[in-house]
Amino acid sequence: MASTKNYDIKDLTLAEAGRRKVVWASREMPVMKLIQERFAAEKPLSGIRIAGCLHITTETANLALALQAGGADLVLCASNPLSTQDDAAAALVDYGIPTNAIKGEDAVTYYEHINTALDQKPHITIDDGADLVTTLHTKREDLIENIIGGTEETTTGVIRLRSLEKSGGLRYPIIAVNDAQTKYLFDNRYGTGQSTIDGITRATNILWAGKKVVVCGYGWCGHGIAMRAQGLGSQVIITEVEPVRALEAVMDGYQVMPLSEAARVGDIFITISGDKNVIDTPHLQAMKDGAILANSGHFNVEINIPALENLSSGRREVRPFVEEYSLCDGRRIFLLGEGRLINLAAAEGHPASVMDMSFANQALCMEYLVKNRGKLKTEVYPVPVEIDRQVARLKLDAMGISIDTLTPEQEKYLNSWREGT
Ligand code: ADE
Repeated sequence: MASTKNYDIKDLTLAEAGRRKVVWASREMPVMKLIQERFAAEKPLSGIRIAGCLHITTETANLALALQAGGADLVLCASNPLSTQDDAAAALVDYGIPTNAIKGEDAVTYYEHINTALDQKPHITIDDGADLVTTLHTKREDLIENIIGGTEETTTGVIRLRSLEKSGGLRYPIIAVNDAQTKYLFDNRYGTGQSTIDGITRATNILWAGKKVVVCGYGWCGHGIAMRAQGLGSQVIITEVEPVRALEAVMDGYQVMPLSEAARVGDIFITISGDKNVIDTPHLQAMKDGAILANSGHFNVEINIPALENLSSGRREVRPFVEEYSLCDGRRIFLLGEGRLINLAAAEGHPASVMDMSFANQALCMEYLVKNRGKLKTEVYPVPVEIDRQVARLKLDAMGISIDTLTPEQEKYLNSWREGT
């Protein structure tokens, strides 16, 4: 075959390389494809301005294209300073979707980008971590009167928004996309599970077999990380504060112990709890020489980095995304990706196949918000169950899997009150 210019990815502009990756991701996003086709025909988002604060990835680009096909006027910004894929951002701009995001941007630029997205005066917000909604509620309140509603993608964001709701401060309806079954059972578990291992592997090239891996937090993401680390031959230790989850971890076959004990034996520590200072000074003091620390939770607060700095006499980068801290007592501790979510910092985030379901929920919730404009209260709502089921059915169809249906007799039996036999 003749070699032509632009045959190799390296010969392409960033935007063209990004476009090819966006198309590649779309192969694994059949549900989004169906939604995009329907949206293109029906235009349910016509005239709607949407501001999305999301990880700027090839999967997000596919969501954006579906919303654009539905008639939305969309602007994007990053939901984390280190998660942007610059080629995906360039492709998005090329597709006509203003995208304010640069991998490695500092905190000032991060918030400038959020504010630029808000300047578009959105009718709908999409958030991943609630920084957009928080900025709206604290600094751009004048824009709230235009807003129909919003969605939230992740556990941390839902927790923040529920606290805002509880304090009486929430000013428009939000749908907690994270809490859809077709989101957390797949994206949180299989997506975070695989991509966290991927991020740590890309950053370090370690062998997982034989390592003691401490997973701090046994929510759905923790489940996924533990499962995948065990599958690669690691001995997994779970630390958890919630007794039911801790019991579940025991019965799932993991060792469970307080972090103060695990700190002494672990080779790799992965925080995924959503809380701050999970790994703190006493744990750092107890760790073995060469311990590796990574975070996969939304914010870079789970590992107490200032405490690590206080214990250290110096630090240096030894590989991309790997910083060696030299402790005053001679030990070395390696921090990955500045304590930011390692699956997006050092790898590419959740694979497209699970983002297909998460983003199908997002797109269908956008449509739902428009259809129910003015009818919803200022609450954090669950994803309507019909949307959740529809996403599961579409995904099964796309996978070529059919399932049984109840006979009318079975349905009647399940739905009728009866005495026991
Ligand atoms: N969150 C985790 N992985 C992601 C991805 N690939 N795209 C967008 N958001 C994500």
